[in-house]
Amino acid sequence: VTAIREPRVPAVLAMRPDLAARLFSGQAQNRLSTLTSADFSRICTDFHDPGFSSLLRNAEILVTGWECPRVDSAVLDAAPRLRAVVHAGGSVKDHLDAEVWRRGIAVSSAVEANSIPVAEFTLAVITLAGKDTWSLISCYRDRRSGIDRITEFPDIGNYHRTVGIVGASRIGRRVIAGLRHSDLDVLVHDPYLSESDAAGLGAELVDLDELVARAEIVSLHAPSTPATRYLIDRRRLALMRDGSTLINTARGALVDHDALLEVLLTGRIRAVLDTTTPEVLPADSPLYDLPNVVLTPHIAGAGGRELHRLGWSAVEEVERLINSQSLLHAVSTGDLPLIA
Ligand SMILES: NC(=O)c1ccc[n+]([C@@H]2O[C@H](COP(=O)([O-])OP(=O)(O)OC[C@H]3O[C@@H](n4cnc5c(N)ncnc54)[C@H](O)[C@@H]3O)[C@@H](O)[C@H]2O)c1
Repeated sequence: VTAIREPRVPAVLAMRPDLAARLFSGQAQNRLSTLTSADFSRICTDFHDPGFSSLLRNAEILVTGWECPRVDSAVLDAAPRLRAVVHAGGSVKDHLDAEVWRRGIAVSSAVEANSIPVAEFTLAVITLAGKDTWSLISCYRDRRSGIDRITEFPDIGNYHRTVGIVGASRIGRRVIAGLRHSDLDVLVHDPYLSESDAAGLGAELVDLDELVARAEIVSLHAPSTPATRYLIDRRRLALMRDGSTLINTARGALVDHDALLEVLLTGRIRAVLDTTTPEVLPADSPLYDLPNVVLTPHIAGAGGRELHRLGWSAVEEVERLINSQSLLHAVSTGDLPLIA
């Protein structure tokens, strides 16, 4: 990456207006303001707003966040000095046109920082699912007296339970790494993973049919691409073991939700769904009320104080650009077909 001149590199912030103050802590804002001309009182929400035309004309760095308007050829024409787009969020697919890469503009994202809370959330869910926690919670609530877990729940626990991870993505790898400290047996499916890489991760590489048929907990971590649409379809749901748990913190599109609802209505499996189709579910969706379904409203990724991690990731990347260091989280066009 070519060096960007100091001091105070011209930069523009573009995102949902109330987000910048949540992404960047006071310290991070100070750091970014020392490094660049980014102005936290002027967040761009429309690149065609004439009020931003001179800022864009000079901008060398665009710092983006969720709900950033699309950066296409017209925007790039209006920002001829742009050298880098640093995204303080996960995916860049929705707001960056391929033209950004064609013009040699460096792109970075905070997808790695965003993967940490998703992996933490998933590890917690796997642990609780292995303990059959939600059945025990409702049993205790209904009964309001003690439970003899030895005789009534003889199969709970995570000792040599089999977990299947679909996608050795950033999040999938973090989950597998987190499971290393347990005695769970880990299967992984990923068409881009070699057997030796899987072994290096401490997991057994299997095809998806075998994974869903063997795992007692199946956790989805593949990106949403045309190839992963309905990865978990009616046939694969039928292959899942009785009493097993499907965890989806990836994207609803990976699962055929009509088929999922059918199998969930039988009570044969449990699902923990952080992402669904549609998102948000309609108010009358049976998924809200089924005892074997745990719904969370897309909370696995960065939220609240975790947003500061995304902000710092972006500030560090800006600093690296200014110091002519290579980006730690560069996104290349080659990554695009495979990533979230
Ligand atoms: N719930 C949330 O809040 C939240 C937050 C962040 C990400 N996500 C989702 O989590 C998922 C994983 O995100 P990530 O950043 O780790 O992804 P990523 O961009 O690192 O995933 C890319 C990798 O996925 C694997 N992959 C590609 N195609 C596959 C296929 N057909 N089958 C299995 N694996 C395949 C490959 O290893 C590829 O390198 C995505 O669906 C993403 O949208 C959800």
